Amino acid sequence: MVPLKRRKVLCSHTGKTGNVCKFPELVLFLLERKMGASRRAFLSELGQKKGFKVEDKFSESVTHLISENNSGDEVRAWLDSQVGGRGRTLAHLLDVSWYTESMRAGLPVDIQDKHKLQEQTDEAETETFSVPSYACQRRTTLENHNTVLTDALSLLAENAELSEEEGRGVAFRRAAAVLKCLPKVVMDMTQLRGLPCLGEHSLSVIKDVLENGASSEVEATKNSERYKALKILTGIFGVGAKTADRWFRDGIQTLHQLRDSGQTLNRAQQAGLDHYDDINQSVTKAEADIISEIVEKAVVAVLPGAQITLTGGFRRGKLTGHDVDFLITHPEEGREEGLMSKVVSWLETQGFLLYQKTTRNSYLEAKDGPARPASNMDRFERCLSIFRLSKEKKRGAELTETLTENLKTPPSCSSSHVQQGGDREEGGKPWRAVRVDLVVSPISQFGFALLGWTGSKLFERELRRWAGREKSMSLSSHALFHNKQSRYLRATTEEEIFSYLGLEYVKPSERNA
Ligand code: CTP
Ligand code: MN
Ligand code: MN
Repeated sequence: MVPLKRRKVLCSHTGKTGNVCKFPELVLFLLERKMGASRRAFLSELGQKKGFKVEDKFSESVTHLISENNSGDEVRAWLDSQVGGRGRTLAHLLDVSWYTESMRAGLPVDIQDKHKLQEQTDEAETETFSVPSYACQRRTTLENHNTVLTDALSLLAENAELSEEEGRGVAFRRAAAVLKCLPKVVMDMTQLRGLPCLGEHSLSVIKDVLENGASSEVEATKNSERYKALKILTGIFGVGAKTADRWFRDGIQTLHQLRDSGQTLNRAQQAGLDHYDDINQSVTKAEADIISEIVEKAVVAVLPGAQITLTGGFRRGKLTGHDVDFLITHPEEGREEGLMSKVVSWLETQGFLLYQKTTRNSYLEAKDGPARPASNMDRFERCLSIFRLSKEKKRGAELTETLTENLKTPPSCSSSHVQQGGDREEGGKPWRAVRVDLVVSPISQFGFALLGWTGSKLFERELRRWAGREKSMSLSSHALFHNKQSRYLRATTEEEIFSYLGLEYVKPSERNA
């Protein structure tokens, strides 16, 4: 700072003694707190004699606030108690050392870092975030300002899940979810103070990324033989962490080695291996829309009046996904019975299915009771399938063209037709495999099923945790049970369920935790 131009002006306020004010641009104020009244009086007088304007009372015109043995936070706290509680000042917050040095020099010395009070609240005040602890209390859109951090934590979560360490996995997922809902990029660890769900381990990973650009643990994991192999193997539809780990311990790390190993694969895994590349390529929204049309056509063909709803990631507004999820119901209770098998045979007849496995509805409210463990799968009639989606150029003609083209091959032979690779075009086959999940729910459970199948997985987990821990209720994709009142709370819409749970409604696009 360039020393201020000295002007000889008489300072009207400072000088009972009529000292000459040499630095009228500066208005100093000495904080009595910890300095003591007598020392303050002595220093003030000294300053005035040297030509400084030293005010007795704090005001907005103060440019330099000087204190002794106070931290920046303490001074801010004092300021907060002044000026109508606003504590907003543009003044420099300085240590007394700046003052004494200026006295010695006979002019205001340049302000150096050592003179400035260490302030944590000043800048961080606008940058610190406040976040409720359950993901279902927050609004998490797809706009993530901290992808570098959340990718790092998600990878560690995935690795923990691959190692069947569920607790650790959830801890990393929760930490990542907190960062996903922050309105800004995190630049500094101090901004994370007071945030929930950030354990020691997650914080150390974040610190590593902020300071070094990457986390050594994440890098080591990413490059480990085990992680790489498990990632490849669980990329096969029908292969979970347990199976992949068994294979890895048998020395299998690649698809080649798996094929050569002579391991027996079940029908799902065989289909997963056959369509590995397609299934591991993201599904686009455009593809999801085409599949919606196909499923809609199937459902209406076998049961007029039945309704389908796109759920999962696409309902949350995602532009890509690993599959396409649908919920099917009929407005008349009971009419949905037997619907799935009809839809599946229609799709099969039309040659749309490369693979499907249907599980019967096994939910019986009276028999099952409410107290199901939170992580349990629901028991709707469901169909996990692999669709054969033809790669048409003209979007509008898609459905009819696919139909006629698929019908060229005999029904129920769709899989052998596929294995032949049938109608190959230059540049590959004219269709691609897409994972599709179909779920049928009776209308009486539709609200719960819709909420349960929209996700995200963490959002769902947090809803159930909230229900159990905060409300003594049990939430599933079938029902909501009030544990203390021993009764079911009926609802037809998601809004009603949020309301029973004492939560503000969170729309699907804000459930991307
Ligand atoms: N789900 C479920 N039971 C299963 C599988 C999934 O209840 N056995 C629910 C999940 O809780 C989630 C929804 O179905 O809410 C969708 O799951 P999934 O397709 O795996 O995830 P998405 O969020 O759709 O992600 P992606 O876009 O990658 O498919
Ligand atoms: Mn999905
Ligand atoms: Mn799914």
